[in-house]
Amino acid sequence: MPQPQSRPGTSRRSFLRTVGLTGGAGTMFATMGALGLAPTAQAAPREQPFRAPKPSDFTLTGRGAAKVVIVGGGIAGLASAYELGKAGYDCTVLEARDRTGGRNFTVRGGDSTTDLYGNTQRARFSEGQYMNAGPARLPQWMVTLDYCRELGVPVEVFTNSNADAYLFNESAGMTEPMRYRTAKADVYGYVSELLAKATDKGALDKELTAADQEKLVEFLKDFGELGDNLTYEGGERRGYTTVPAAAGTPGVPLDGIPTASEVFASGVGRYFSFEFGFDQAMLMFQPVGGMDRIPRALTEAIGARRIRTGAVVSRITDKGSGVTVTYTQAGRTSSIDADYCIGALPPNILAKVPHNLGPGVQSALEAITPQSAGKIGLEYRSRWWELDHHIYGGITETDQDVTHIWHPSYGFHGERGVLIGYYNYGGDADAYAKLTPGEREKRAVAAGVKIYGEKYRTELASSFSHHWRQTPHLEAAWHDTPGGPDDSRYKPLNEPTGRVYFAGDWLSYTDAWQHGAFTSARKAVTALHARVLSA
Ligand code: ALA
Repeated sequence: MPQPQSRPGTSRRSFLRTVGLTGGAGTMFATMGALGLAPTAQAAPREQPFRAPKPSDFTLTGRGAAKVVIVGGGIAGLASAYELGKAGYDCTVLEARDRTGGRNFTVRGGDSTTDLYGNTQRARFSEGQYMNAGPARLPQWMVTLDYCRELGVPVEVFTNSNADAYLFNESAGMTEPMRYRTAKADVYGYVSELLAKATDKGALDKELTAADQEKLVEFLKDFGELGDNLTYEGGERRGYTTVPAAAGTPGVPLDGIPTASEVFASGVGRYFSFEFGFDQAMLMFQPVGGMDRIPRALTEAIGARRIRTGAVVSRITDKGSGVTVTYTQAGRTSSIDADYCIGALPPNILAKVPHNLGPGVQSALEAITPQSAGKIGLEYRSRWWELDHHIYGGITETDQDVTHIWHPSYGFHGERGVLIGYYNYGGDADAYAKLTPGEREKRAVAAGVKIYGEKYRTELASSFSHHWRQTPHLEAAWHDTPGGPDDSRYKPLNEPTGRVYFAGDWLSYTDAWQHGAFTSARKAVTALHARVLSA
């Protein structure tokens, strides 16, 4: 990269223009960062810069946009068609389901599904109520939020961690739930006490200087709310049975501070690191009105006439000079000839589609294995979790087979609300999937009653459960990619095989996130466009 300092007399603007012309947008952006004109990598850590194809890219080349058939109308397929469409590519999206979005699926009243076990459900949620059966939360750093901005999809805060939500470990002997704030006060308090006392006794003399030890103890006293004798004795962080209010009512602190041994035996500390995760830390966001606002906006931007729903692909044939994709729609089999194809189905589904792309593609697809997850939406006649428990959004963590219980991050103080009564994975999700929808509801409600009491049952209006491994044409919540997406065995998927490109969250480092689907689509689009421009 040219050194900005080495060109005295050059105006910054003309210098940047030169860098932009010779090095492309990414080089220019990096140079701007070095000059202090653009956010630095630390200020805005992002994926590789992406430059959407433009019609003007074809000026002077004598070439035109190509015809592309995109197999799969999930986020990766829609994003591919959307970005290629900006430069005038003639895209057709084939989607097997009756709606676009793939695993981005928002369930509202009237929506109906039939799973692979033959269970048909019709949601009875009331007006304005919904559940995001698939993706439901967006970290600030993910490109998904950029697409929301670009597409005009309004977003609101999604509460991923909440000090007032509960933790419940029945297997550790808990008979009632504990608030996050109380558990944190106790765990951080005792960990701080033990470390401070060990430091005080010289246990860290080899690791730290006396001055460092002093600073560490100072930190621990604050972090764990320790007394002068370095002992944790509880405090206001644990919460109150009667909260502080007007003069004369200082509040009644929660009593019954457990011993260190009891706190560690309860296992509540295991839930805390979740919120430190790069992809799970607050603040998080959700589209206003449901996650499917994203595929809806993409679908509209692409143009409905370019998208064929109910179109099940039965063969992909690379012919050297083009690609033929055969599909069945409403009982009729048809073919599309195109210059290129983007395979944007889940790998477990693509692996079942006959093709002539070779054994390398097939074995790579088969190495990536589908994973299970399920959710149940429970609509309640009242928002008793707000009224009785003062919980507004956030997640209650349990050792029950329901795993996570989500309080809705929309409709606060409204009349009704939809809780996610389970969000579970693996064996727990499979076990629930095998039940009838009625049995799933009964089992999930029984677990919830242990935590929240009888209103969990008596206020219930209706439920809707969804299991991804049993969802036709998807058959996975997400995927396990042994060795990671850059393992050499996936080379035939990461590079075009003949005229076929692949895209999906499963070909990214953020599997199970729309960000992975978007960035994988951008990668395929960038490579395809470069090839068309140089062909
Ligand atoms: N991205 C998914 C989640 O946040 C797996 O739960």
